[in-house]
Amino acid sequence: MAAVLAGIGGFLPPRVVTNEDLSATLDTSDEWIRTRTGISERRVVSGGTSTGDLAVQAGARALRSAGVDAVDAVVVATTSPERLCPAVAPEVASRLGLGQVAAFDLTSACSGFLYGLAASAGLIASGAADTVLFIGAEAFTTLVNPQDRSTAPIFGDGAGAVVLRRGEPDEPGALGPFDLGSDGSLADLLAVPAGGSRQRSADGGLGHGAVPTEDWYLRMEGRPLYQQAVEHMTQSAQAVLKHADWSVADVDWFVGHQANVRIVRAVAEELELPEERVAVNIDRVGNTLSASVPLLLNDIAARGDLRPGDRVLLSAFGAGLSWGSTVLVWPDITAVAVN
Ligand code: ACO
Repeated sequence: MAAVLAGIGGFLPPRVVTNEDLSATLDTSDEWIRTRTGISERRVVSGGTSTGDLAVQAGARALRSAGVDAVDAVVVATTSPERLCPAVAPEVASRLGLGQVAAFDLTSACSGFLYGLAASAGLIASGAADTVLFIGAEAFTTLVNPQDRSTAPIFGDGAGAVVLRRGEPDEPGALGPFDLGSDGSLADLLAVPAGGSRQRSADGGLGHGAVPTEDWYLRMEGRPLYQQAVEHMTQSAQAVLKHADWSVADVDWFVGHQANVRIVRAVAEELELPEERVAVNIDRVGNTLSASVPLLLNDIAARGDLRPGDRVLLSAFGAGLSWGSTVLVWPDITAVAVN
């Protein structure tokens, strides 16, 4: 028994923010952003659009791709929740007309899609569900300080979704094995300090004192994260390949989390994977955290580069720290290009 990929969909908010747009208000340039990150433009939510709105759009497309209008569970991976409480997944399920199904959120920053795939596969393995709609959705730009040139150019908003169903381990689309890991001793390398129980956004009479506005926003130490990303994505990818009994030569597509094109290329180099087998779309979307891997999969499948039978290696790294990898043989499913 295995969790098998049965459908995929993605959604990007329509508002495009180019590097030139950012350069108008920040001390940065198109040249710096492109050469240091590989990003040319990203999509950003307009006021009033939330993570749940993006999740509903991507979820609807994945359901259409799978040709189903009912599932047993909805899982949403997000680091930019609709609100601190409750989870957005029940609302997404309801808005999609899926009824009173099992629904919950999980948070694992940029490795959210890999953790969510494993959790969704676990729901199927446990017998709790036969079909799962799993969505990675982020309006993370709402947590980024628009005045901070070291983070504002990097992130974008969007959602990617998959439908998983119970199937056989040897059929195309079967997920796994998985490799997952974390290192909480480096949690402060990427954090939004305020808003949670450690540091509420407002004092609330609890005596914590005033919260500086900058603590509401993302803080990131890019350089050490870069090194950690290359190291852990490489090791995780190697571990999962070994577990799956695949060699690097078996991999037709490396679909790695899009944090920085230089990170993806460095991991591919460490793995000795040729450039033509490395999928990239960061130039148009930026870092969309848990939406990154499914949006990229959807992109290359929709343009016909990723074909049924291709062997795919997925790997991601993010805050936490956290990382994860898995493999699958691409199934014969429909993918529609995201506008
Ligand atoms: N425009 C112009 N100059 C800039 C900008 C900018 N937007 N941002 C930084 N600089 C300057 C810095 O001030 C610095 O100047 P200095 O040398 O005079 O001090 C110089 O550029 C180099 O800065 P670095 O931060 O060292 O630049 P680096 O090459 O490391 O690139 C980046 C920064 C893109 C953030 C990179 O470190 C990176 O991608 N890190 C990994 C991010 C990541 O993987 N995050 C985890 C996943 S995300 C998640 O989980 C939510």
